[in-house]
Amino acid sequence: MHPNIQDLYTIANKPSRKIIGLMSGTSLDGLDIALCSITGAGVQTSVVLDHFTTVAYSPAFKEKVLSIFSKQNISLAQLCVMHPWIASEHAKMVKDSLSSWNVQPTEVDLIASHGQTIFHAPKSLHPNDEFGTATLQIGDGDHIATGTGIITISDFRQKHIAAGGEGAPLAIYGDYLLCSHATENRVLLNIGGIANFTYLPANGKLNQVFSTDTGPGNTLMDAYTRKHFEGISYDKDAHIAKQGTIHRELLDLLKKDSFFSLPFPKTIGPELFNLEYLNEAQLKMGIVLSDQDIMATLNRFTAETIAAAIQNNLPSTISFTIYVSGGGMHNSLLMANLNSLLPNISIASSIEIGIHPDAKEAILFALLANEAVAGSPLLAGGHSTKVPTTMGKISFPH
Ligand SMILES: Nc1ncnc2c1ncn2[C@@H]1O[C@H](COP(=O)(O)OP(=O)(O)OP(=O)(O)O)[C@@H](O)[C@H]1O
Ligand SMILES: [Mg+2]
Repeated sequence: MHPNIQDLYTIANKPSRKIIGLMSGTSLDGLDIALCSITGAGVQTSVVLDHFTTVAYSPAFKEKVLSIFSKQNISLAQLCVMHPWIASEHAKMVKDSLSSWNVQPTEVDLIASHGQTIFHAPKSLHPNDEFGTATLQIGDGDHIATGTGIITISDFRQKHIAAGGEGAPLAIYGDYLLCSHATENRVLLNIGGIANFTYLPANGKLNQVFSTDTGPGNTLMDAYTRKHFEGISYDKDAHIAKQGTIHRELLDLLKKDSFFSLPFPKTIGPELFNLEYLNEAQLKMGIVLSDQDIMATLNRFTAETIAAAIQNNLPSTISFTIYVSGGGMHNSLLMANLNSLLPNISIASSIEIGIHPDAKEAILFALLANEAVAGSPLLAGGHSTKVPTTMGKISFPH
């Protein structure tokens, strides 16, 4: 047996593994690094978050990513060089974080790397051609493995698409393993660049769990802030939006896109929800609004589409609690909008069920890596999409 396979076999057989989850979403705010101690696998999994940090991307880093991010036309040469470059930057961020925590790379069993999403193309974005759903995350796993000396599992979304899914939201698996409850119906809502939720019926099985994107999270608000407020990358504490008034006509136009009439579950990205999307709605309206009014309207747009998706998919007869994670939960106006749209539903931070709301997505990828090496195919039984039993590609450091 190759010593690499022997190493992996040993890791898979451990009662408990140290796994680093790496997540960098469409917001391009930074790399989330979650060092987790994961015991067991499948429904027996338990996780302790040993350390967490978000390493902020520098303006120069963001600029490089933005040059190839969710655009129709980019430089192929730039895409090619960015694939290993992002990986080596992520590897450096991991090593620096480990050293600041006084943890040796040899103490870590695995890295689970999401990679940087460059383009997400569900079939609904290109319905008339011969191609199917596709998604592209860059930041090559071999470079992370050699850069850190740690076995790396990466590129999780391809297997989900190969098995008939849309490559997202992958939160469904970790949400199910970590957040299911015997007596409480739960909605796990993550508001990152895009918003998505997982519904976990009390005492449910994986085949009863439901997960979907809802539409924009912070992406439109972020894009507008970046363009119109120099040097600011997001509307901190909704400072701008709170000075504006919601414009009903613009809001209705924003909600008209065919994405909102597609059947659930569905996925989407900033390839649709971008400034061009907003411009088209504004052109139809023909009135010029203040930046503050536009931000107030975009904030409400995010909240209304999240609330509508939840109401559409959950019977009004059942009671449930919403646990929120992702950067959008720090936007107090967005949370106030959600509370006003869902007045009889309790909305709390995921910290209430023991999950750090900023670390959650990174933890979920660490769990997927744990499942890839130590999980059981039984977990997948009976789910409506053909659920792959392992996701991710394995890269060895040597
Ligand atoms: N204090 C705050 N006030 C308002 N918005 C905030 C605040 N803190 C974070 N945010 C928002 O959260 C965003 C980052 O969210 P997050 O890191 O969850 O998203 P992401 O990196 O795109 O990940 P995902 O893959 O989950 O979409 C920021 O771009 C910003 O819009
Ligand atoms: Mg982020």
